[in-house]
Amino acid sequence: MNETIQSILKRRSIRAYQPGQIDEKDLQEILNAGQYAPTAMGEQPWHFTVIQNPDLLSRLQEICKQGFLNSDNEALREIAKRDGFLVFYQAPTLIIVSGHKIAITPLQDSVLAMENMLLAATSLGIGSCWVHSPITVYASPEGPETLKSIGLDFPEGHVPYAAAVFGYSSLPVPKAAPRKQDTITYIR
Ligand SMILES: Cc1cc2nc3c(=O)[nH]c(=O)nc-3n(C[C@H](O)[C@H](O)[C@H](O)COP(=O)(O)O)c2cc1C
Repeated sequence: MNETIQSILKRRSIRAYQPGQIDEKDLQEILNAGQYAPTAMGEQPWHFTVIQNPDLLSRLQEICKQGFLNSDNEALREIAKRDGFLVFYQAPTLIIVSGHKIAITPLQDSVLAMENMLLAATSLGIGSCWVHSPITVYASPEGPETLKSIGLDFPEGHVPYAAAVFGYSSLPVPKAAPRKQDTITYIR
C-alpha cells in the first residue's frame, strides 16, 4: 500500500489534544495541501482562516456550545450537556475554509480543500477533527454578526463551509468503525 493510501486509511477524528501548538512548517504544508484541491473551473474561490488565538478559540467555543444547547436535535443537546464537553477538544488550531458565494461550487471546493488538509495532517502525525458547529452558527440568522463581534470575520462575499481542529493527539488514535458493506455497484 502506498503512503497516500496509508494516510487515507489512517486518518481518524481526534477528540483529545495535547496543549502544544503544531509546528509552523507543518501548518504551512497543511495549508498548501488544501490549496491544491480541485475546484470547479479552477476558480479556487476559497479563503483559509487559521485561528490559533486561545482567547478567540475559547470565546468561539462557548458560542458553539450554546448553539448545540439550543439545537433542534436532541442528540446534539445531550452531547453539549455532558460534563467537560469541549466543542474543540482543546485543540490549539482551528482552520475554517470559506468560499465566495457566487463561485460555481464553493461548498464542494471548500470541503475538498479541507479533506486534503485532514489527510496532509495525518501524514505529518498531526491529529484533526471536523467540527461543524462554527458553520452551523454562521448559518443562523444572527450568526455572522455574533462571530464578527468576537473578531471572527470572513472576506467580503465569503461563506464558511468547512471547519476542523488540528493538534497533537493526547490519546491513542481510535480504531475505524467497520465499513458498511454493499455500497458499491459496478456497471461494466
Ligand atoms: C460534515 C461533518 C461534520 C462533522 N461534525 C463533527 C463535529 O461537529 N464534531 C465532531 O467531533 N466530529 C464531527 N465530525 C466527525 C465525524 O463524527 C467522524 O468523521 C465520524 O464519526 C467517523 O470517524 P472518523 O473520522 O474517525 O473516521 C464531522 C464529520 C463530517 C464529515
